[in-house]
Order: sequence, then C-alpha cells, then structure tokens
Amino acid sequence: MSEDQKEVKQEKDYSKYFQSTFKAPSLKEARRRRKNTIQYLNDFSIPEDMKTIGQGKQFMIQTYGCQMNEHDTEVMAGILSEMGYTATEDPEVADVILLNTCAIRENAENRVFGEIGHLKTMKRERPDFILGICGCMAQEESVINTILQKHPQVDLIFGTHNIHRLPQLLKEALFSKEMVMEVWSKEGDIVENLPKVRNGNIRGWVNIMYGCDKFCTYCIVPYTRGKERSRHPKEIIEEVRSLARQGYKEITLLGQNVNAYGKDLKELENYGLGDLMDEIRKIDIPRIRFTTSHPRDFDDHLIEVLAKGGNLVEHIHLPVQSGNSDILKIMGRSYTRERYLDLFHKIKNAIPHASFTTDIIVGFPNETDEQFEDTMSLVKECEFDGAYTFIYSPRAGTPAAKMEDNIPMEVKKERLQRLNKLVNEFALKKNSQLYGEVVEVLVEGTSKKNSDVLSGHTRTNKVVNFRGPKSLIGELVNVRITETKTWSLTGEMVKEASVISE
Ligand code: SAH
Ligand code: SF4
Ligand code: F3S
Repeated sequence: MSEDQKEVKQEKDYSKYFQSTFKAPSLKEARRRRKNTIQYLNDFSIPEDMKTIGQGKQFMIQTYGCQMNEHDTEVMAGILSEMGYTATEDPEVADVILLNTCAIRENAENRVFGEIGHLKTMKRERPDFILGICGCMAQEESVINTILQKHPQVDLIFGTHNIHRLPQLLKEALFSKEMVMEVWSKEGDIVENLPKVRNGNIRGWVNIMYGCDKFCTYCIVPYTRGKERSRHPKEIIEEVRSLARQGYKEITLLGQNVNAYGKDLKELENYGLGDLMDEIRKIDIPRIRFTTSHPRDFDDHLIEVLAKGGNLVEHIHLPVQSGNSDILKIMGRSYTRERYLDLFHKIKNAIPHASFTTDIIVGFPNETDEQFEDTMSLVKECEFDGAYTFIYSPRAGTPAAKMEDNIPMEVKKERLQRLNKLVNEFALKKNSQLYGEVVEVLVEGTSKKNSDVLSGHTRTNKVVNFRGPKSLIGELVNVRITETKTWSLTGEMVKEASVISE
C-alpha cells in the first residue's frame, strides 16, 4: 500500500462501511441465543480461482490464547495450504500475516496491539503483505473501533465464525484497496470438512464442541465464541480414529465447557461426555485428554467412565475460580465452595492417582480479605498439582465490568503473590511424591534448554526431562524420577519393562 492509499484509509468514515461493505461485531447481537439456528455445514471447498492464489507465497499465523485458538490456527493453516501458500516463521518474508487473537484479559489484548504496532513499521517498508486480525478480539466492538482509528494499516479482519470464509476474504483483501472486515455476531455454525495442517504428529486436538452458554459474569468467551454447540459423536469418533491410524499418540478433546457436551444434540437423548468418552476409550490410541471442565456439569457417569482408566488419562483440569460461595455466586458459576469440594473428593476417590489443576481469579470486584482467604484454604484442602492464577480483568460488555470495585490493584497483586506461593508449594509437594517412581512419558521432543535432553509429559500431565536418543520422540517410555522441581521432573530411562506406578 502506498502512503497515499494509507492516507485514504485514514480519512475514511468507517461508520458508513458498517452499514454497507463491512460486517462489524456487536456484543449485543452475540449475546442473543436463538433456538434451532445452528447449521451443520459439510460443503467447504476452495473456489477454483483461489486454489493457486498462494503459489510461491508464504503465510505466518501468530496465535494467542487457549487451545481452541491453537486449533483454529491449524484450520487456517490447512485452508491457506490448500490455496497454495506455504508456512513460514519469518515475518520478514511472509506475504500473509494473521494474528489469531485472544480477548480473555486486558494484557492479552495489549500484547496483540503491541504486535500490530510493530508490524505497522514493517508495513511501511513492505506495504504489499496482507496483515489480518482474527480470533476473539475481532469479535469485540471496542477492538474494532481502536483498529479503525489507530491501525488503518490492517488489511483484513474476520471473526471466529468466519474462518471458513478465509479464501473469499483473503481474495477481497488482495484486490481491494480498503480494509476488508467480516465478523458475524451470532450463535455460530458447525463446519465439518475444513482442512487442517496439524502442529506435529504426536499430539492432536479434536474439537468436540464450540462456544459457551455459561455467561460467567466476568467472561467474554460466550460473546466471542457463540452458543454451546456439540459436534455429532460420529464425526468426533471418525476424527479420533483417523488420527490414531496416522500414528498420533495423544488426543485432547476440546471445548470451553466440555461437560455440557451433548446437551444440544436433540436427536440423541441424554447423550453426554461420559457416553462419548466411553466410546472413545475403545479406540486404539494410547492417551485421551479433555479440557476444559466446568464443575457444574461434571456428572457421575463421566466419573465412572474416567475411572475405567486405559487410555483415559488421570488428569482433571477443574477450574474453581474462587473458594468463596458468595463470590462464586456473583461470578455466576452456579456452584458453591461445598459443591466444588464434594465433586473434587468424589473424583479423587474414584480415580486415586489423578492429578488436579485449576484456574483461579483473584481480585474479583469487592472481594474481601476473608473471601480471598477462602480461596487460600480451598487450595490447601485440594492440594492442586498446579493452577493458572489471574488478577481479574474487566471485559467491556460483561456484567462484572459494570460492578463498582473498591479493591486497590496493590492489594490484588499482593493476593496473587501469596496465592502463587501457595500453589507453587503444593506443585512441588505433589511432584516430590513421584521421587523414585517409574512413570510413563510420551516423548514429544527435546528440552527447550538442552537439545541432548528429551522432554515429554506423564499421563498426569507433568513435564519430564531425561536423556535418551532422539529416535524415542513420539514413543511412550518408562522413566524413573530422580529429581523433582516445582514445574518439572527429571529422570532416567528404565530399560526393563516395568509396571507404571503412577
Ligand atoms: N471455560 C473455562 C475457562 C476459559 S478462560 C472455564 O470455565 O473454566 C480461562 C480462564 O481465564 C478462566 O478459567 C478464568 O480463570 C480466566 N478468566 C476468564 N475471564 C477472566 C477475566 N475477565 N479476568 C481474569 N481472568 C479471567
Ligand atoms: Fe467463560 Fe465461564 Fe464459559 Fe468458562 S464457563 S468460558 S469462564 S463463561
Ligand atoms: Fe482467549 Fe478466545 Fe480462548 S478469548 S481464551 S482465545 S476462547
């Protein structure tokens, strides 16, 4: 784009485009949940005139946020590859750069704005590459307004429901002089036959459902990802089988709230995650994980099925958010401290070797010291193997963002530090219990710090480093733990076949 064109973009009155050319996001629209409007599409194909559009060109996708986003990136990489593009990790040579963004907290968004600013400079030197913004931030009105006002160099914006439209949108961006924007604020559809270029061939992600209907009062996801909608079990099982045939060793089933799986599948009465897991465990693949669980819908049947073990691994990520029932209530989590603890102990009794991790928010509006202490005492009772901890971040458009908050940031930071210290103590304690034990490790690659060292995860999702030949990458290996740290374990390969004592 020339300087002149950039000027033109800056001077445009974009409000007019919202009425005609552009489809901009609306959180209000996104909040609406209509009945029976989900479409199951199976007719994705790249239009003839776009099949070679990327020949000799390269793309780069930078991904932020959760596994759902990582997996969407695999789909976009699949689509771009079918258009002839090849992948690069070097932004200097990329013809298309997409930022697949996350809106969960303000700092996630700031990182993306920082990157856009950085790429703007590159755009001045190399105006012809296409800069696209997609993912959850693209679903937010405030973000779009900021981009229009401050970052007119962006060529393309599309939302989480528009990924299958990438060929058409990219074509428009390549030939139009204006910013191309298409964001649908709707329940969402399910598009089944999208191509994927997966990251690696050892561990694979499989979506089992999309969206979230829980509307926790602090959370933006139900607005950016649409309504809870489940894929049909047949499609999921076929995808897992196909990955098993290709030699994948581990599958992670994905959804924002996987325990709500099946509720919307009217044609299958009472079919839930437990039923799905019971079918998937019969597939010949060593490991099956799932994420993320919501305590509300974690039912007895699922616990019963998980307790059968086999390829269903012993790791439960069960976000609690707070240990205080009043805070949980204002968060809209629909369980109390007591119900969480009951569920926690029920699962623990059924699967004694399970590891547990959680998510915790500190500094929710007006959280008192006593309420925070309830979170600390819950962590002490559960002795989590690990926890993702966050300071509450107000998200425009959510109910919590409207709550007045009298707690100073200093206090919140102090609480986070104390919580992290406690979480780390338990992480170390849990890891120390594995000293001298033999664990099964899926070798995923070499250690980031030392390329002579192999690295992988246990069934309980702990990182293990040990020395061994690179030929073991992709294999399941028994390792005796010789050193335990807070976030990882070190060990030695056990030559003889031995019982996994994890
Ligand atoms: N669906 C998952 C979580 C998805 S988001 C669940 O319900 O558990 C991942 C984590 O980000 C959440 O568990 C929560 O701890 C955190 N989070 C979400 N919104 C947040 C906000 N506004 N501020 C701070 N943390 C937030
Ligand atoms: Fe957000 Fe709650 Fe849905 Fe999780 S369950 S994605 S925290 S609204
Ligand atoms: Fe972020 Fe969207 Fe995932 S907001 S956490 S990328 S669903």
